[in-house]
Amino acid sequence: MNIAWDGAAYTSNFSFVHQYGQSVIELIEAGKGSAVLDLGCGNGALSNVLREKGYLVKGMDASPELLDIARKNHPTIEFIQADATCFSLAEPVDVVFSNAVLHWIDREQQDNMLNCVHDVLKESGEFVFELGGYGNNDQIHGALREVFSAHGFSYNMPFYFPTIGEYTALLERAGFQVRFAVLFDRPTELKGENGMKDWINMFLKTPFSVVKREDEKEAMIEEAVRSLQSSLYKNGIWYSDYVRLRIRSIRL
Ligand code: BEZ
Repeated sequence: MNIAWDGAAYTSNFSFVHQYGQSVIELIEAGKGSAVLDLGCGNGALSNVLREKGYLVKGMDASPELLDIARKNHPTIEFIQADATCFSLAEPVDVVFSNAVLHWIDREQQDNMLNCVHDVLKESGEFVFELGGYGNNDQIHGALREVFSAHGFSYNMPFYFPTIGEYTALLERAGFQVRFAVLFDRPTELKGENGMKDWINMFLKTPFSVVKREDEKEAMIEEAVRSLQSSLYKNGIWYSDYVRLRIRSIRL
């Protein structure tokens, strides 16, 4: 799924995405000097962390807006514009790394993405990643589903949040061996008094494309935020009810 990103707002309000991503990097076993592809690198913040750890990094993303920021902030890293479901590299890499990206790819396109990752990895190369897992943001999507229905719209949840069993089966079919997999809750603090509203505005553009009137969209978001207050607003802080699926696998 390709959406137009507000790269500046993403970088300033949602820096937790790359802060949490640092613990996914810890799963990589390849040593310094190994070639790593950061798949869905966004603004390049984690590509830079990988580089600081001594890896030879290339970043890849479909979004020109985010790549502009990545290239400006990290001019010595090579960033490639490509679709994660249809890409290749001139030279194979030791590791493909990805954080908080793969849930944006429809279930029907996941096999294409996994085949591309398989093809760019050296034999025994690592595919290390985290995505939203089964149950991710259930409360947020549930609240929005009710509000959409009350306004006469249907809510199309635009993400793929698989279980461990489902995703490890896809990996095995694509020629990977799974060495580590975990699904865990990670309630995540959002920034500011409007944290939930900002999160919905940033990440849920696609479902709202059916709502043509801006004032109605605003009202719907307010209604959803109000209904989430009792469960996701604590001591003056908004939380997103994230569930993470984290995996380390090897290309056979
Ligand atoms: C996630 O990281 O789980 C996520 C972020 C934005 C939208 C959907 C899921």
